[in-house]
Amino acid sequence: MQTTLLLGSTGFLGRETLRAFESFGPVIPVSRTGAHGSRAADIRDADALRGLVREARPDVVLLLAAYRDPDFCEGHPDETRRLNVEPARVLRESLPPSSRLLFVSTDYVFDGESPPYCEDSPRAPLSEYGRSKMEAEDALADRPNTTILRVPLLVGGGPSLRDCGFIGIVMEDARSGREIQVDNVLMRVPTWTRDVARAMRFLVERRADGVFHFSGPRGATRYAWTVEIAKRLGFPHAQFIPSEAIIPRPARRPRDSTLNDGKIRALGLTARTDFPDVVDTVLAELRA
Ligand SMILES: NC(=O)c1ccc[n+]([C@@H]2O[C@H](COP(=O)([O-])OP(=O)(O)OC[C@H]3O[C@@H](n4cnc5c(N)ncnc54)[C@H](OP(=O)(O)O)[C@@H]3O)[C@@H](O)[C@H]2O)c1
Repeated sequence: MQTTLLLGSTGFLGRETLRAFESFGPVIPVSRTGAHGSRAADIRDADALRGLVREARPDVVLLLAAYRDPDFCEGHPDETRRLNVEPARVLRESLPPSSRLLFVSTDYVFDGESPPYCEDSPRAPLSEYGRSKMEAEDALADRPNTTILRVPLLVGGGPSLRDCGFIGIVMEDARSGREIQVDNVLMRVPTWTRDVARAMRFLVERRADGVFHFSGPRGATRYAWTVEIAKRLGFPHAQFIPSEAIIPRPARRPRDSTLNDGKIRALGLTARTDFPDVVDTVLAELRA
């Protein structure tokens, strides 16, 4: 029986990860607030994190907890490093080398100018968020029994529409009928949290070391996705106005950071769910 310490269990990805690992062995779910039966711990506190590791003696640690809003990170670089980098360093020094560590990283470590990106493509993040994830990757680079999994924009479900990320936003915008400018420049590859959680389990079971990419099946701009989803849901979409200029935001985003995930496919993980099918599943589960 393998004991898994799941750091960030109540988040968008953490909820699906908890489900995916429940049949793997005992899971100790950890979050900042201790919601949904998780254990409350602030992993920015190095002593608290070391104490967790000492007590839980995990065979596997999944490090998901992070600040993931690039605009927040841009304005708070020091605070960002407290959560996005330091816990990786603490785990590197406190977790026995025989325990497996999986760290979730991002396509934002790339600048988006020469896609698709392979695992060994040069990284050049445009934002504090991307830089912080790159620093955490570097802190773990030569640790044994370590997997770094880079994923792009996550989509998925949650207990209510407000917890459904992009899907929830499109539905609420469509219902509002307001005219809304939507980016038609940046390429985005929505990737289902449930598929990512399965990819994590796949990599842990195979004891796959090193960097891996995992990505949804196809990319399009936010505008193109918004129209496709609105149509599928039976909403009018004329209210969505394509913006052919990048909408200014505090953090720069890569233009097209599409990930080549041939390495994990070659290991045998080929299933990916197309975004419209994710929408159907999320809505069916919300209704249920
Ligand atoms: N979402 C995306 O589109 C996306 C894309 C690429 C990569 N990623 C990466 O995927 C990972 C998971 O992202 P997500 O979208 O699931 O994030 P999320 O929804 O914001 O969830 C963050 C999780 O971390 C926990 N947490 C936050 N601060 C903590 C602290 N100080 N101590 C302990 N736990 C803390 C939160 O607990 P509380 O709920 O109690 O606050 C929550 O469980 C991140 O590493 C992110 O960088 C995400």
